[in-house]
Amino acid sequence: MQTNPYVPIPVEVAKIITEVTTKDIKTFRFAFLNKEDEENFNYLPGQFAELSIFGKGESPIGIASSPTQKGYLEFTVQRAGVVTSELHSMEEGTRMGVRGPLGNTWPIEYLKGKNIVVVGGGFAFTTLRSLINYMIHDDNRSQFGNITVVYGAREPGLLIYKDEIALWEKRTDLALNVTVDKGDADWKGREGFVPAVCKDVAPSSENAVAVICGPPIMIRFTLPVFFDLGFSKENIYTSLEMRMKCGIGKCGRCNVGHKYVCKDGPVFSLAELDKLTKEY
Ligand SMILES: Cc1cc2nc3c(=O)[nH]c(=O)nc-3n(C[C@H](O)[C@H](O)[C@H](O)COP(=O)(O)OP(=O)(O)OC[C@H]3O[C@@H](n4cnc5c(N)ncnc54)[C@H](O)[C@@H]3O)c2cc1C
Ligand code: FES
Repeated sequence: MQTNPYVPIPVEVAKIITEVTTKDIKTFRFAFLNKEDEENFNYLPGQFAELSIFGKGESPIGIASSPTQKGYLEFTVQRAGVVTSELHSMEEGTRMGVRGPLGNTWPIEYLKGKNIVVVGGGFAFTTLRSLINYMIHDDNRSQFGNITVVYGAREPGLLIYKDEIALWEKRTDLALNVTVDKGDADWKGREGFVPAVCKDVAPSSENAVAVICGPPIMIRFTLPVFFDLGFSKENIYTSLEMRMKCGIGKCGRCNVGHKYVCKDGPVFSLAELDKLTKEY
């Protein structure tokens, strides 16, 4: 992390990918302007950064690239309000700031040696994509057991990372299950809600950890499936999205009980969340 955590690191928009047919979700690839900043930006999957646009403000966004992808950072951003709309209007070559990496990570060390079930819904798949790319990288794949992925979107046009998913589908060391609530004429894949597909795929809870991220309604119906499969609350992890300001545990904007989501999270196990108040 940079010496002064309030000072954004200068970056340039190197590539913009429009992810969905509605055009309101784009992936931004940033290149660091200074080599030293790039070398010092050490992160792991699950962390986020504040995207900083001068005169507009900052937005906390999960890091969608994996640290195994060198030379750039990627963020997948839905247009929501002031900062994200400004970001969406940018062109390649625009300069702005990134403040981070911030927050904790998916529990990488704990995941090692275990079978991993990754469940994602909608565009909350971003830091899960980072985790998957991290685990399947040649340097890391042998450290993890079976990897099962269930990823769903409302309709085919809302699936993100389509090119990458096509590559993952060809792998034999990753059990990928992509589903849409409702297909269209061209859709040849699965149809069905994420919880139903999880039930159908029925990953074993033996030596396994589930990492789940998505809209609250998806999480609400997915958790009982995993409890039925025998997953304990200690072995189910999720990531919280709260309103944030400083991102470094100073302003008190994001606390849940005695924890700061920006610093102690955003990743928590269900067992940890159970100990907090029910504010999240
Ligand atoms: C740890 C973390 C990771 C996130 N990762 C991503 C990501 O990968 N991609 C992505 O698109 N978004 C992500 N978000 C949400 C993102 O931070 C907000 O959508 C963004 O800050 C909105 O900023 P804005 O200036 O464009 O909108 P504003 O003008 O501030 O607000 C526009 C609308 O968005 C709502 N809003 C603002 N902030 C949040 C928030 N934190 N959560 C929910 N609603 C909010 C406001 O109530 C308002 O209705 C993440 C949030 C957190 C805390
Ligand atoms: S955002 Fe300031 S304490 Fe978490």
